[in-house]
Amino acid sequence: MVLSKTTSESDVSVHSTFASRYVRSSLPRFKMPESSIPKEAAYQIINDELMLDGNPRLNLASFVTTWMEPECDKLIMAAINKNYVDMDEYPVTTELQNRCVNMIAHLFNAPLGESETAIGVGTVGSSEAIMLAGLAFKRKWQNKRKAEGKPCDKPNIVTGANVQVCWEKFARYFEVELKEVKLSDGYYVMDPKKAVELVDENTICVAAILGSTLNGEFEDVKLLNDLLTEKNKVTGWDTPIHVDAASGGFIAPFLYPELEWDFRLPLVKSINVSGHKYGLVYAGIGWVIWRSKEDLPEELIFHINYLGADQPTFTLNFSKGSSQVIAQYYQLIRLGFEGYRNIMENCQENAMVLKEGLEKTGRFNIVSKDNGVPLVAFSLKDRRLHDEFEVSEYLRRFGWIVPAYTMPPDAQHITVLRVVVREDFSRTLAERLVMDIEKVLHELDLLPSKFLKLNDGKNGHWTKKSELETQKSVTDAWKKFVLAKKMNGVC
Ligand SMILES: Cc1ncc(COP(=O)(O)O)c(C=O)c1O
Repeated sequence: MVLSKTTSESDVSVHSTFASRYVRSSLPRFKMPESSIPKEAAYQIINDELMLDGNPRLNLASFVTTWMEPECDKLIMAAINKNYVDMDEYPVTTELQNRCVNMIAHLFNAPLGESETAIGVGTVGSSEAIMLAGLAFKRKWQNKRKAEGKPCDKPNIVTGANVQVCWEKFARYFEVELKEVKLSDGYYVMDPKKAVELVDENTICVAAILGSTLNGEFEDVKLLNDLLTEKNKVTGWDTPIHVDAASGGFIAPFLYPELEWDFRLPLVKSINVSGHKYGLVYAGIGWVIWRSKEDLPEELIFHINYLGADQPTFTLNFSKGSSQVIAQYYQLIRLGFEGYRNIMENCQENAMVLKEGLEKTGRFNIVSKDNGVPLVAFSLKDRRLHDEFEVSEYLRRFGWIVPAYTMPPDAQHITVLRVVVREDFSRTLAERLVMDIEKVLHELDLLPSKFLKLNDGKNGHWTKKSELETQKSVTDAWKKFVLAKKMNGVC
């Protein structure tokens, strides 16, 4: 997080057991130390502290790649000192980015002629890609409105309430109203019909998600395209579509090649995808591709020449590392279409193993769909005694990081646990996770509930226990546990 804050801990020093071989005094926690320390000590101190981070491979909360081949790790390390923006100095890196843009544009069926090159850029992730795409829509819409002599000070964008936070950031940072289609029970993605109803003359674009962050579901971009085409015909507007394919962009082309969601649909003018999600690269790379040159207003592109020849740039940041671009190129040529398809199929199969395992417990409702992003989102069937947050908390003891969260407004009473199945999450791990979840459920069943059943003369209803009631239940449970052990002679 950018805005750092000091914790309430009174300790203002960093201590390290092993580093005391090199340094005797503690380091200030929030102020730069006055003097230098040996490099070994610095390494040891930081390495020791980092041991308390979670294990990235067991972090099932994230879509972001946590494993790459050692050959690619080598390429990454070799390029770690190259600033991507020095294009004239590192022309090959620039060429690799251009190749990636073109490969991805072809994957998304951009209407490119034989000798035509694609329009797109590498970004830090989908968030930056979305800011750039949003800015292009906003400027295009403003230019059109100005040319028509109409006001252009109230742009809006239509999305589902399930959008990732980067869309809210775009709306707030760049002063565009976010018009969200509400979710409802059992329907956790944007309804295209309702989205089109929200479109007005100030709508700069409708954003559809291919792979909702919350449950992995693909939104129906084809239906959205058809309905919006109709509305455009009637109104004379030409409201376009952006597809946020942060996760799905590297899944759909391989698993669902027939699914029309990309530039095959005429109103889709730009698409973003995270290279660091199912593009299979470590954190720090995303892509945005435009349908054609006309969809990216020229005035947004800056031309600089002080690093060498004329370089067009359209990014929010100036400097950034080259490694991720090189790593993306590695994956594209190393795996090819066949390799990506195999990996995505494998992820999908492992997601099914996990889903079936969870279903077998009889304790969960599955909230994700089989044909979206390979993930399993699930909620407890009966949460009168314990909730998903407790399951998540207990799983941490086995090393698993499985997030629990509530759905957005209008479906916020639904809480889900979500396991993202990445390439490095094997079938064995899926089976192991189910076993551990069963253990957690068993443990939770033995614990006193956080809820109290009130007798209302009928079926009774459940209410949250007070602090005191909870303490009493815990003490009772422990007493029972200790007594049982004593009677068994195990203690
Ligand atoms: C649908 C969607 N859009 C955008 C983002 C933001 O992506 P990034 O982390 O690449 O900036 C995410 C991240 O999970 C996402 O799921």
